[in-house]
Amino acid sequence: MISVLDLSLDEISSVLQMATLLENEDPLLRMKRLLKRRVALLFYESSTRTRTSFELAAKSLGADTALISSQSSSIEKGESLKDTGITLKALGAECIILRHLSSGAPYLLEAATGLPILNGGDGTHEHPSQALLDLRTLLAHFKKGPSNSGQSALTETTLDGVTVAIVGDILHSRVARSNALLLPRLGAQVVLCGPPALLPEVAANLGPGITIERDFDKALAASQAVMMLRIQAERLSGLHLDLEDYKGRYQANQPRMAAFAPNALLLHPGPIIRGLEITSEVADGPQSLIAEQVRHGVAIRMALLARALGASAPESITNAASAK
Ligand code: CP
Repeated sequence: MISVLDLSLDEISSVLQMATLLENEDPLLRMKRLLKRRVALLFYESSTRTRTSFELAAKSLGADTALISSQSSSIEKGESLKDTGITLKALGAECIILRHLSSGAPYLLEAATGLPILNGGDGTHEHPSQALLDLRTLLAHFKKGPSNSGQSALTETTLDGVTVAIVGDILHSRVARSNALLLPRLGAQVVLCGPPALLPEVAANLGPGITIERDFDKALAASQAVMMLRIQAERLSGLHLDLEDYKGRYQANQPRMAAFAPNALLLHPGPIIRGLEITSEVADGPQSLIAEQVRHGVAIRMALLARALGASAPESITNAASAK
């Protein structure tokens, strides 16, 4: 899976269902699902959440993992992505999780190896597993209710009536792109919010369910969830931003949240830069789902690995499918 568009709505639903079933499965039975299968994690950019949760997910399913990072591997000596992929395949890798600084790199790796590639973030293109874990986080909150237990909510796939503001460095954010491509398909409205330097004017149609609002306070007031983004200093390439001005207009801080979105859920894919796009008070406050997002990442990544490697489905998925 390289893009969220690789999954149909039915497949998204079955990934969510699989995530819940695997999460609740007896750990010893779960270990048999990918026992001794070989998963390579190939990381050209730093990562804490994606790398660790994919590794924990693979190990929870019994797979053997190998981590190759651009520092301390032969990539440092100039070995290409193609040759690195061919080498990993020769070593028995059956699936590669790739994080790369270039948009589209997973397509090259897929073509070179013929292996299933799970995109762990490619340049400014996409970060599909992040969008799926964000979706699971949102569903867990918006579908809870008296007639709707939290457990079943995680397998329902509609965000009808929910508006999600995505705020900050949209231009460089693969998380923003994947979420903007995914959430409207589930019925959500997406409001993109940021200054022109980080959210350029676009002449083309943004796509169904997506609008732009420059005024953060207005975007907050219209939204039930707000997803803050880090300014990606590593991708700004000479672009100068007045950070004090930025904080004044776009920082998620307590007075602003209290005034415009006291009940909104607060998400952030991480890493967060405290005091810039978000204050500690908000990041650690009652509206914040940041740690919850990270937790959902392991379940979603188990489901994606199981799907990529054709793991047998837990009983209740098999039963549900045969009942259709
Ligand atoms: N959200 C995210 O991709 O975090 P990492 O860079 O730590 O993996």
